[in-house]
Amino acid sequence: MNKIFKVGLIGCGHISETYFRAQEYFNNIRIVKCADINVDAAKKCAIHYNIEAVTVEELLKDKEIEIILNLTIPGAHYEVSKMALENGKHSYAEKPMAVNFEDGKKLLELANEKNLYIGNAPDTFLGGGIQKTKELIDNGVIGDIKLGNAIFAFPGVQSYHPNPESWFAENEGGPVIDMGPYYLTALVNLIGPAKQVQGRCTKVFEEREIGIGPKKGQKFKVETPTTYLATIQFENDCIIQITLSFDVVAHQRNHIELYGNKGSIIVPDPNMFGGSAFVSVTAGGNWGGNIKQI
Ligand SMILES: NC(=O)c1ccc[n+]([C@@H]2O[C@H](COP(=O)([O-])OP(=O)(O)OC[C@H]3O[C@@H](n4cnc5c(N)ncnc54)[C@H](O)[C@@H]3O)[C@@H](O)[C@H]2O)c1
Repeated sequence: MNKIFKVGLIGCGHISETYFRAQEYFNNIRIVKCADINVDAAKKCAIHYNIEAVTVEELLKDKEIEIILNLTIPGAHYEVSKMALENGKHSYAEKPMAVNFEDGKKLLELANEKNLYIGNAPDTFLGGGIQKTKELIDNGVIGDIKLGNAIFAFPGVQSYHPNPESWFAENEGGPVIDMGPYYLTALVNLIGPAKQVQGRCTKVFEEREIGIGPKKGQKFKVETPTTYLATIQFENDCIIQITLSFDVVAHQRNHIELYGNKGSIIVPDPNMFGGSAFVSVTAGGNWGGNIKQI
């Protein structure tokens, strides 16, 4: 029989439901206790999922818990993952690992030092959509990739998230920290490491209005840039233009398009596990049916 790792959840917010559902797909993890700085949120979660609510401190000291699942807001990811590792627990956090590069590096060093595992969302690049794309690229179907485009752009979470403020807070909000990890992880997985980034950023709205929940109708200040237009240069000299934005009502561009010297590929949504990759190796763009002709 498989060992079942006992997981302690810290951060009982919006996304926790997805993890309670997801644990059913695995036969080696079980969320057994939860904690939150908001005691009521932890209690509510515990009652709903029939587990035990404890304080953050108690969870970190709990000998039964082997893995801390860190579903707090981005600004707290580093501190909570660090405390998990310092207390001898493996750590898995929602994206991003930390809100700056130095803190992310420190977490990796700490995990190595303590001989503990550290994992982080997104894991969508391991799904069928991006893996199929990787297979096509690695098999040379579109040749060497030297150019590409990527875009995530939508109007922001304020319409459907009851506590959207942290998405717009200074140093922890904005689309690079929120959705960037899906796109950047997929691009690095498909193209390799990046070496330089140049870009501009802007903020279109000074305020946002909460569209759902107990604070519906309340306005709050936007403290961070909400659109980034950037160019990433990879180690292999591939250049990708990326748009990450919370300021776009609608658009019709593909999530990621990569252009090789033999053809082009439309990469499925890196925020999802599945999706189809479309390839064209004809100048006119006959998408999808050409893979066998290579
Ligand atoms: N909501 C989504 O659709 C979604 C999707 C994918 C990923 N995520 C990611 O999941 C994470 C959480 O998102 P969410 O939507 O659940 O946020 P949320 O605001 O609904 O919940 C976060 C919870 O963490 C708690 N918390 C904050 N700081 C804490 C600390 N220092 N110690 C203990 N608890 C603390 C808050 O009290 C809150 O209950 C974010 O990193 C987000 O990017 C969210």
